[in-house]
Amino acid sequence: MTSESMKGKICIVTGANSGIGKETAKQLAELDAHVVMVVRNEEKGQKALIETKEETKKDSLDLMICDFASQKSIRNFVSEFMKKYKRLDVLVNNHGVMLPKKQLTENGLESTFAINYLGYFLLTNLLLEIIKSSSPSRIVNVSSGSFAAVRKIHLDDYNFDKRRYSLFKAYSESKLYINMFTYTLAERLKKANVTVTSFSPGYTRTNLGSTSLMMKITAKLSSFIADSSEKAAKHAIYLATSPEIDGVTGKYFYRYKIKEPTRIASNKQLQEELWELSEKLTEAK
Ligand SMILES: NC(=O)c1ccc[n+]([C@@H]2O[C@H](COP(=O)([O-])OP(=O)(O)OC[C@H]3O[C@@H](n4cnc5c(N)ncnc54)[C@H](OP(=O)(O)O)[C@@H]3O)[C@@H](O)[C@H]2O)c1
Repeated sequence: MTSESMKGKICIVTGANSGIGKETAKQLAELDAHVVMVVRNEEKGQKALIETKEETKKDSLDLMICDFASQKSIRNFVSEFMKKYKRLDVLVNNHGVMLPKKQLTENGLESTFAINYLGYFLLTNLLLEIIKSSSPSRIVNVSSGSFAAVRKIHLDDYNFDKRRYSLFKAYSESKLYINMFTYTLAERLKKANVTVTSFSPGYTRTNLGSTSLMMKITAKLSSFIADSSEKAAKHAIYLATSPEIDGVTGKYFYRYKIKEPTRIASNKQLQEELWELSEKLTEAK
């Protein structure tokens, strides 16, 4: 896979203190991009920033704080970012959680839905003008192959009020929404020279799901088949930088190949309903 020098490009990577996000930030910095590492915890973020600067021997890395469980925090982050930066060439929406128990955010939303999906939706929409004015630019959303397991969509029950909460359901639904959002946004940005793609990094050894005992045991038992974060991040780098996919938009990738969406993911009416719901829940219009 070829990657071009990213000198002079400004990139955001969310969830950049750990796992795939940290590696993505590192690999972008190695390509000479200026990388804004977005994290929710200042202490963990500082540690990751120092390590990444040491490993890459690059100084073009910045740390900014955003907790994607809070829409206020997302808005604050965007307003701080706009004060500091005048362009945004690449946005990598990477942060994500797998939560064993249902929790509500301060906005009254189920946390997996709010963090994994609405966090991408609101951040991207708030940054859209600067992304458009920096075109050609790219938005890369980290999804997961688990989205394909969703057989029925529950836009009327995103909060799991009518159904029993399950970590896997909440997670795979959030990843389905990310893919649907990718398709809709790409369509809306067709004339703007901004590409929007999503991908599954494949099963990777990271901290994902580490608050769930079941996930911890599964990860331990199956760690020998998991990829490294370094390998997983290469997928993000490919979508964020490779000239091979210049202009490719509205596609979901797995192992560097475009994969066809599922019937639900490609349903235009459901995509529009999801967009409307997301606008309503984030007041992002
Ligand atoms: N690992 C896999 O097998 C796999 C497979 C498919 C897809 N993915 C996806 O890959 C992405 C990266 O995950 P990972 O595997 O690298 O896991 P990870 O090591 O746990 O990294 C997740 C990152 O997201 C951050 N994050 C979580 N909640 C946040 C919030 N409310 N606000 C801001 N940041 C938040 C975490 O910060 P803290 O350190 O502070 O918690 C961490 O930096 C996720 O979208 C995940 O769904 C992973």
